[in-house]
Amino acid sequence: MEDSIRERYVDLPVVSPDANLKEVAQTLLDSEGTMVVVSKSENVYGYIDTKVLLKWFLMGEEGAKLKAGDLAILIRDEDRLESSVDIENIVEKVVKNKGLPLFVSDEKGVKGRFSLESLMDEIIRSYGEEKGKRLNVEHLIKVVIDMVPFGIALYSVNGKILQKNKIAQQIIDENLVDLAKIKKMAKDNHPKVLTLNNGTHYRMCINNLQEVDNILVTFTDITTEYEMLQKLRNSQKEVETAFSIMLPDQRLEQRLKSIVEYMDEYDDNTGMIKITGIIKNGCFKHVINMLKLIADAFKQGLMELPGMDKNALVQATILHDIGKVQPSLKIGDIVNPKEVFEKGYLHAFRSADLSKELYNIDTNIYYLIKYHHHIENELPSDFPKFLLPMYRFFRLIDGLSAGITRRGSNISMRIRDTRIFVKEESNFPLYNQKLEMDVYTGFLDSKKL
Ligand SMILES: [Fe+2]
Ligand SMILES: [Fe+2]
Repeated sequence: MEDSIRERYVDLPVVSPDANLKEVAQTLLDSEGTMVVVSKSENVYGYIDTKVLLKWFLMGEEGAKLKAGDLAILIRDEDRLESSVDIENIVEKVVKNKGLPLFVSDEKGVKGRFSLESLMDEIIRSYGEEKGKRLNVEHLIKVVIDMVPFGIALYSVNGKILQKNKIAQQIIDENLVDLAKIKKMAKDNHPKVLTLNNGTHYRMCINNLQEVDNILVTFTDITTEYEMLQKLRNSQKEVETAFSIMLPDQRLEQRLKSIVEYMDEYDDNTGMIKITGIIKNGCFKHVINMLKLIADAFKQGLMELPGMDKNALVQATILHDIGKVQPSLKIGDIVNPKEVFEKGYLHAFRSADLSKELYNIDTNIYYLIKYHHHIENELPSDFPKFLLPMYRFFRLIDGLSAGITRRGSNISMRIRDTRIFVKEESNFPLYNQKLEMDVYTGFLDSKKL
């Protein structure tokens, strides 16, 4: 270090301010450099370089009267630096002074001037060392990202791949993950699942690294959960198939499948809804979800209560919406639900009449279907009181199934004697609720979550 600092500057000969032209010229000739320092007074220094010397010489007789102190160019404080400062500081000073000379000073005075060649050499060496370090770090990063058990790739905002590991490489090659795909995913704001030829499934996620203007793309192996989901879907299909076989005739299946359900967003201020999704086979799914809730309640012993009849509930469930007619809407439509949707009690009456005529249902099932859109205090006086527990449970599962079918709600249902405790959660917090119902007394308490 000491040596390299010593190499940064060249010694300068010093002359007194009284030195004449000849003495200065001789001193300069005796030295290896092109400059002499003139010590003018304590801590005040000037310098004479060859240019000044030449000017002095050309002055002729007039010049003979002058001394070194008269012609020396003053070395200002800002022209000086200690020799041991960082190279960055030296460069900064040179830039600020718009060039050299820059003098090396210590407490004893000016001892030399910084050498341009040495500084250049030092800068090149330091750059080389930094470059070496950077390459080492880059190599290390490459080794590390190749070892991680997920795919990782760094894209520039122009879509150039700056860094990637082997897993990412394979996924990118097989699925052509380019900037267009990344942008589409960012717009959809939804992770994408990519499948490799070997059957592995990866979830692709993107992360904008704003500080460096790059895009980080990660690929996580989700094969296990993906296959589980597929199995779940298959078992769902099996349930649907089993249910279809149970139906009294194929027309009923067609009828239920032809009734769509809509997903919507409600605007509190206008009372309007915006259609955000269309669920094909919506009513068919709704009925299946109700049947599952009946099965759950059956497992928990609800059907052992006097007044509860599993077979009646199953039949009522299958038939309760067969008379439903939905308007034809498309995604993005904004409509007044009170105007476009038929009032619920109308399809309830229609379904009850159709079921009675076509499927010869008994009176209890007829009542359950007919009044499934009536609230309790609007029931007609001839509604049989003994049907109330089933009616309450039926309306409860009709509503819960709507949440499952239309909002993908998660429903947990716990039954204790005549009480039913429900928790509903979905991605639509407005509908998240906790509910308690007594099917015998009609007690109902619901709280928003
Ligand atoms: Fe209905
Ligand atoms: Fe329904």
